[in-house]
Amino acid sequence: MLLAKKKGLVLNVTNKNSIGWAIAEAAQAHGAQVCVGAQNDKLAGKVSELTEGRPGFSTTIVDFSDPSQLESLRDEVARSFGTVDFIVHSAAFAQREDLSGRFIDTSREGFLLALDISAYSLVALCCALEPVIADDASVMAMSYLGSTRAVGNYNVMGVAKAALESAVRYLSVDLGQRGIRVNTVSPGPINTVSARGVKGLSGMIESVHERAPLKRPFGAEEVAGTCVYLMSDLSRGVTGQIVFVDDGFNILGM
Ligand SMILES: NC(=O)c1ccc[n+]([C@@H]2O[C@H](COP(=O)([O-])OP(=O)(O)OC[C@H]3O[C@@H](n4cnc5c(N)ncnc54)[C@H](O)[C@@H]3O)[C@@H](O)[C@H]2O)c1
Repeated sequence: MLLAKKKGLVLNVTNKNSIGWAIAEAAQAHGAQVCVGAQNDKLAGKVSELTEGRPGFSTTIVDFSDPSQLESLRDEVARSFGTVDFIVHSAAFAQREDLSGRFIDTSREGFLLALDISAYSLVALCCALEPVIADDASVMAMSYLGSTRAVGNYNVMGVAKAALESAVRYLSVDLGQRGIRVNTVSPGPINTVSARGVKGLSGMIESVHERAPLKRPFGAEEVAGTCVYLMSDLSRGVTGQIVFVDDGFNILGM
């Protein structure tokens, strides 16, 4: 069991197709105790249906737009776990109108919202939870290739993911003092509620699967496998990195 005696948080999950849920299930299957987050009461009901009656799971509610909820989460972690050995940040948000058409038309409000929820939230989460993150723990956040390439319709979310990846590098320096690793995992396109907010998702998925070096399908389970590695001591020398899980699509040129 790669994750025996480890305990951690996966924030957040919407339904069984969420990348976060695949990560939570894989971590639990490898022996970890996993607290699975939902953004609000309504989504918490759905998350509880997934975890109900299954040992090794608990649930919590956290909305990254509310700083007081991060403080409550820290107190809850202290009460129930003492400290955590891993944190998975698997959340993003942008207004639907900012995920189609021309990037140049992004409003200030839409820009700040996307950057706040999708990038700053990782910084705020690490800062609020720092006292309850165990030494040598592993933190990971989900990004996408649109951070460094102009991907049609991804628009403001690409800018948010660039900020997230940069934040990961700075956090890895700060938290590296205590042996805590911080990495980015960058999946290729996967059909989830959030991804469907980006116009033209199914075309993106088809094109990646057609062109990527590996010809086998990939999805949330492949992402989860990489996260288990990053949570485990096998990756103890790895921090500040971007690990792509996209059948190798990102290395292609013409
Ligand atoms: N699906 C893909 O193709 C893909 C590819 C690369 C990266 N990602 C990233 O993976 C992560 C998970 O997304 P997913 O595809 O599993 O979709 P999802 O919709 O299942 O999960 C996104 C989660 O973000 C949460 N969220 C949104 N606003 C929030 C807020 N204010 N506070 C707290 N939580 C909030 C939602 O509640 C939801 O649980 C995201 O960071 C996404 O950008 C997804």
